[in-house]
Amino acid sequence: MIGELINQNLRDKRISTIASKLTGEYTVATDPVSYQKLDQVFPLHPEQQFFLDELTEEKIASARVLEIGIGSGVLSIGALRAGAIHVTALEINPRAKNYAGFNILANGLEGKIEIRDGDAIDIWKPIRGLRFDYIISNPPFEPTPQGMTQYLHSAAGIWGLDFVEAILKELDDHLTAKGHGQIVTFAPGNTQEPFMLVNIARKYLKGEVIIKVNPISIKFGEFIDRFVEREQATREKVEELKKIAQENGVSDLYLCMLHYSKGNQALTVTDTAIAYEAWLNPL
Ligand SMILES: C[S@@+](CC[C@H](N)C(=O)[O-])C[C@H]1O[C@@H](n2cnc3c(N)ncnc32)[C@H](O)[C@@H]1O
Repeated sequence: MIGELINQNLRDKRISTIASKLTGEYTVATDPVSYQKLDQVFPLHPEQQFFLDELTEEKIASARVLEIGIGSGVLSIGALRAGAIHVTALEINPRAKNYAGFNILANGLEGKIEIRDGDAIDIWKPIRGLRFDYIISNPPFEPTPQGMTQYLHSAAGIWGLDFVEAILKELDDHLTAKGHGQIVTFAPGNTQEPFMLVNIARKYLKGEVIIKVNPISIKFGEFIDRFVEREQATREKVEELKKIAQENGVSDLYLCMLHYSKGNQALTVTDTAIAYEAWLNPL
C-alpha cells in the first residue's frame, strides 16, 4: 500500500543514486531539472559526487555535523553513511525541508538529522553559540549579473561568493578545536587559479586551508551568457558583468573544494586527484 503510494507520487520527481568509497550507494529524490522555479530542490550534479569523494574516514567518524543548506539531504545522508553520528541542518526552502525529510526517512536515518529553519539574512543565526566537529555546505554559488538576486537556490552575487564569504567569516567560531570544514563551490579566477576564493580564504581563515581545484575550468563569460539564452537576464546586464570581470582579471570559473582545520595558518591550492568533467550538467 505505502509502496504504491510512493511509486505514484514520486513519478514526476528525479530519483538519483550516488555512491562513494566511504558512503556506499544510496538514493535520493529531488526535483527534476525541468522544475525551474525559485524553490527547486537541487538535483544531483558532479559537485555532490566531488563532495562525497573528499570525505575522509578519520575526520568524519563520530562527528557531530552542521550542514548549511540541506536541499534534498544528499550530503547530510552521505555524512552519516560515512560515519558521522548526528547532523544539524539549516534550510530556508520549505520544499527542500519536505524532500530532505522524505529522503532521511527512506534512507533509515530519522533521529539522526535535525533540520532547523535557516535565516536568509544571517545564515549563522539559528546555531550561533554552538560548535560542531564537521561543518559542510554546498551553498548558493552561481555568479549572477547585478540585480539578478532571485535565481533558483543559487544566486550569490556577481562572483558567486557572497554566501561562501558569509560562511568563512564565522567558520572558526563554530568549529570544535579539532573540527573540520568542507565547502564545495564554484569560484572565479584567471587561467591559473580561482584567485577570488583564495583571497577570501586568506582574509577570513586563520588556520589551515586546502583548496582542491577541479582542473577543468570553464570560461566565465560563457557561463554568464547562459542567463541570456534562458531569458533570465538581459544581454546588457551580462555584458556589464563581463566588463567587470575583465577589469578584475577574471577569465575562468572553477569547481573547488575548500577544506579547513584549525591550527597554524597555511593555504595550499592543489588540483583534484579526479577530474570532474561536464560539471555544469546534472548527474
Ligand atoms: C546549491 S543547494 C545545495 C543543496 C544540497 N546540500 C545539495 O548538495 O544538493 C543550496 C541550498 O542552500 C539553501 N539555502 C540558501 N540560503 C540559505 C540560508 N540562508 N540558510 C540555510 N540554507 C540556505 C537553498 O535553499 C538550497 O537548498
